[in-house]
Amino acid sequence: MIELGDNMSVRIKRKIKIKWKNLLILLVFSFLLIFGITEIVVCIVKVASSPKTEEKTKKKEKKKKEVKYISEDDEKLKVLNYVNKKVDYFNPDYIDRYIQYKEKNDDLDDKQIVKNVNMNLDKEQYKDTKSAKNLNTIKILVNKHYSLDKNYTPDNLEEISNRYALEGMEMVKEAADAFENMAKDAQKENLKIIAMSTYRSYNYQIKVYNQYVKADGEEKADTYSGRPGYSEHQTGLAVDVYNGKTNYTKFEETEEFEWMSEHAHEYGFILRFPKGKEKETGYTYESWHYRYVGPTIAKYIKKHNISFEEYYATKIKDW
Ligand code: DAL
Ligand code: ZN
Repeated sequence: MIELGDNMSVRIKRKIKIKWKNLLILLVFSFLLIFGITEIVVCIVKVASSPKTEEKTKKKEKKKKEVKYISEDDEKLKVLNYVNKKVDYFNPDYIDRYIQYKEKNDDLDDKQIVKNVNMNLDKEQYKDTKSAKNLNTIKILVNKHYSLDKNYTPDNLEEISNRYALEGMEMVKEAADAFENMAKDAQKENLKIIAMSTYRSYNYQIKVYNQYVKADGEEKADTYSGRPGYSEHQTGLAVDVYNGKTNYTKFEETEEFEWMSEHAHEYGFILRFPKGKEKETGYTYESWHYRYVGPTIAKYIKKHNISFEEYYATKIKDW
């Protein structure tokens, strides 16, 4: 009996042992399962919020926006008769300006619209101006839309020989040398080309401009004199000439003018404010004001009978 009782208790104990074992296995298994699932969830969240995924999501959103932008632009380009495919000086950043300008100037063809806006003809003079680019290069454009800082002084200023200039006339070396060559060659034909106003500092231009304003009033002065910071004379690449006899305002009537009209471009000079280009240049015709742009650009401008503004808007394109 006692033996039987002992056996029973051993069996019961074994059963209990087995149950504990199972329970333990179950517990471990459950723990592993929960731990595993948690890890997987954490991993998914991490991947979803990783920079790469964020980047991908952003890219997708950007693409969606781009598609919208392109289709919106396409409507505008349609209005402009897809002029962007016809000229290489179309500036996509100006698309709204082109549209607005076209609305007010529907008699102009689309190429002219692009050209005019590139020349800022849709803007008021001296309003919302930009800083001149290409400083210290022959490509610099300074006008009523592009200005120079009051501290800007060109590098390499050189005084022009007093055989061809009034006392103390300075230009950028390349321009000064070209001017001397031109005046020397003109002299061989008994013609006198004399530089009478060349580089003018910002402070000097204040005096010049104020003097004109005092004499003629601001509105009139603005038609023939640059405001300080907006005069090309500050670049050291502009020169006013006369022949030593006739007043410079009558330079057009001289033989020297005739000679310069034929030859100035060979030396890299252009007549900067020509007749018929007043809207583009912002100034009335000046037969005495020349600008050094180098022979290549000067020849092109002469050949195509365009202003420097037109050249800048269609060739330099550094708006
Ligand atoms: N006379 C020219 C426009 C100037 O003052 O720069
Ligand atoms: Zn001048």
